[in-house]
Amino acid sequence: MRKKWMLGIVLGILIIILVYTVFSMIDFYNDPINTDIGSTDSARKLPIPALLVPSNSDANSSDYYLNVQEGTTNFFNDKSTPTLGYNGSYLGPVLKVARGQEVRMHVTNELQEDTSIHWHGLEVEGTKDGGPHQVISAGATWDPVFTINQPASTLWFHPHVIGSTATQVYYGLAGLIIVEDENSMSLNLPDEYGVNDMPLIIQDRSFSQDGSFVYVDNMMDGATGDYILVNGAITPYLEVNQTKMRFRIVNGANARNFDLRLSDYDEFTQIASDGGLLEKPIVSDSLFISPGERVEIIIDFSKYDEGEKIKLMSDNELVMTFHVGEKTVDDTVIPEVLSVIERLDEDQATNVKTIDLDGMGHMVTLNGRTFDMDRIDDNVTLGDIEIWEITTFRSMMMGSEGHPFHIHGTQFQVLDRNGFEPFENEKGWKDTIFVRSGETVRIIVRFKYKGLFMYHCHILEHEEAGMMGQLEVE
Ligand code: C2O
Ligand code: CU
Ligand code: CU
Repeated sequence: MRKKWMLGIVLGILIIILVYTVFSMIDFYNDPINTDIGSTDSARKLPIPALLVPSNSDANSSDYYLNVQEGTTNFFNDKSTPTLGYNGSYLGPVLKVARGQEVRMHVTNELQEDTSIHWHGLEVEGTKDGGPHQVISAGATWDPVFTINQPASTLWFHPHVIGSTATQVYYGLAGLIIVEDENSMSLNLPDEYGVNDMPLIIQDRSFSQDGSFVYVDNMMDGATGDYILVNGAITPYLEVNQTKMRFRIVNGANARNFDLRLSDYDEFTQIASDGGLLEKPIVSDSLFISPGERVEIIIDFSKYDEGEKIKLMSDNELVMTFHVGEKTVDDTVIPEVLSVIERLDEDQATNVKTIDLDGMGHMVTLNGRTFDMDRIDDNVTLGDIEIWEITTFRSMMMGSEGHPFHIHGTQFQVLDRNGFEPFENEKGWKDTIFVRSGETVRIIVRFKYKGLFMYHCHILEHEEAGMMGQLEVE
């Protein structure tokens, strides 16, 4: 009996090793990592996405138009890459809105296939959320209307249609939303878009010899790439004055975590997490950000000299370079208090739920099952506060590093991480939280809007493989 059992394990291990070897060989043949496929000029300037101008706007209400389209983009000087974009060939414009403003979106799908547009982090009703239930078929237009009703924050948008979320994002569909409110506007933070307030959408991509993207949804943990892109340019540079600069950073990668730092481990200040400004600024020298998460940081370049080149790295890989220019007047300040955050009260929670994230590669489950569009996994009463206990299983073999867990239509707070206080920068509003293998993270969440909402792992290949559930708020 015992012997059979042992034999089973040995066989199992052998099969896993075999499958893994075969897959890594496939990977190897597709892998452009050691090929020089063209010059990137490494003198490419950081592209700054345009602000989306409303077509007609009074003080409280505006119409915005987005076209989902195909195009080509020159990531390399002599090669063009077929890509997707919103109102352009890659990525999209920035939607800058204010709390209280009514937004009338008009999204036209000019692709040959279905898409949807999900406002990640936005607190709106389920029918406006843009998840898999709001498919925009080829040629169709979707016109959701919603009112911004949440704190100043950096949110983003991307497709969310079953079966092609991961590839459509990889090919370029993503954009940023900036929300301002009375508090953020009363502070003297850097907030001049494109001047001292910059979006940094960080992604990784692989290319083939002809310049086209290589999407390898590998066995391990989703589609990763050999090149780091910021706002759609490979490891670009940005000229900065010797002033404070605010960066709204989005991890827009399908699957990859970034561990950001400056070249010399110089300090910077984090001022916001996914859902808004933190209560207090946090000074640090490194910052971990998993897919779907956003952070806002301020780098004070006044401590550098003209001509210095400061690198933003992820571990030991270059992300981008800052070229320090001259000293200019800077009247921006980082205040001691950034915002006041009302703590959700554990005693008021009406429900405790467990979310088990398990597996890796394509073999992933959420609470032991995979996504089914026809199954509602949870019911929630409107306005209720719940505690969700998210755990990830630590597998004995080559386990996943962890899972960025995300809930639609709401912002939550982290109660604890493995029974301990959450990290300092997890104490603000969050909509995506990284749960490492073997960890348990407890969050507290209030559902303020009616409708059907997704929750899932934001490794897009895990999401596609079924690591997603849906809840209905009534
Ligand atoms: Cu970025 Cu289901 O979301
Ligand atoms: Cu979302
Ligand atoms: Cu995952």
